[in-house]
Order: sequence, then C-alpha cells, then structure tokens
Amino acid sequence: MKPRFSFTRRDAAFVAVVGAVLVVLALGSGKRTTPATPDDPPHQQATSRAACLGCHGKGGVRAMPKRHPKMDQCFMCHAPPAHWVGKR
Ligand code: HEC
Ligand code: HEC
Repeated sequence: MKPRFSFTRRDAAFVAVVGAVLVVLALGSGKRTTPATPDDPPHQQATSRAACLGCHGKGGVRAMPKRHPKMDQCFMCHAPPAHWVGKR
C-alpha cells in the first residue's frame, strides 16, 4: 500500500514558490505602458505602415528610437487612435 500523503516542508516550499510567481505575474500585468497612438488628424488618417513610417521611420519628423522593437504591426502594441478612419 502507498504511504498516505503528508504535507511536508518541501510541499510548503513548493506552494510558496508558486505563490510568489503568481504575485509577480499579477503585479506585472497591471497597466498598459506602451503609449497609445495620439488621436489627432495626422494619426487618425494614417492607414498604412508606410504612412506611419513616413514620420516615424529613419529620418522622419519623429523617428522611432533605436531601441524600439523592429516590428510592423504598430497597432498590436500602440492602441489605434480613438477616431481612426481605417478598418479595425
Ligand atoms: C504626419 C506625421 C505622422 C504620421 C503619419 C504618424 N505620426 Fe505618430 N507622431 C507624429 C508626431 C509629430 C508625434 C509626436 C507628437 C505627438 O505626440 O503628437 C507622434 C507620436 C506618436 C506616438 C507616441 C505617442 C506618445 O504618447 O509618446 C505613437 C505611438 C505614434 N505616433 C504612432 C503612430 C502610428 C502607429 C502611426 C501610423 C498609424 C503614426 N504614428 C503616424 C507624427 C506622425
Ligand atoms: C512589439 C510592440 C511594438 C510594436 C509592434 C510597435 N511599437 Fe512603437 N513602441 C513600443 C514601446 C514599448 C514603446 C515605448 C518605448 C520606450 O518608451 O522606451 C514604443 C514607442 C513608440 C514611439 C514613441 C517614441 C518616442 O519618440 O517617444 C513611437 C513614435 C512608436 N513607438 C511608433 C511605432 C510605429 C510607427 C510602429 C509600427 C511601424 C510601432 N511603433 C510598432 C512597442 C511597439
């Protein structure tokens, strides 16, 4: 017959580690920190990646910083303007 389960020190340590991980994840998931796309006319009317990069690409009026992620789906991270003219 198998020995009955008893809650040992190691089990307590395991539960404590799982709990700590959950707390860290919960704290980190709070607020969205990536800036939203501004809701002004030039942003409302930009409906392509090329349009965004016209201003935010290399040499644009507000080039993305060097450490910015090299990814194309801008709205995946930056919420689109509230009054965007494109199709969501
Ligand atoms: C006509 C030029 C122009 C176009 C096109 C443009 N932007 Fe911008 N964008 C700016 C300027 C200038 C700023 C900084 C001033 C401001 O916050 O409005 C800015 C700011 C931003 C910011 C930073 C907001 C913040 O709070 O720091 C994000 C994000 C952004 N744009 C995303 C986009 C995306 C995504 C597109 C394409 C859909 C786009 N922009 C198209 C000129 C442009
Ligand atoms: C994977 C997520 C992600 C994607 C996709 C993304 N960005 Fe960003 N972007 C960020 C984060 C995070 C920041 C804040 C960076 C910081 O402040 O250090 C940022 C900051 C910015 C800023 C503000 C920079 C400044 O001058 O303060 C602009 C403008 C911007 N992104 C434009 C774009 C454009 C245009 C695209 C599409 C070509 C795009 N982003 C795609 C995550 C993303």
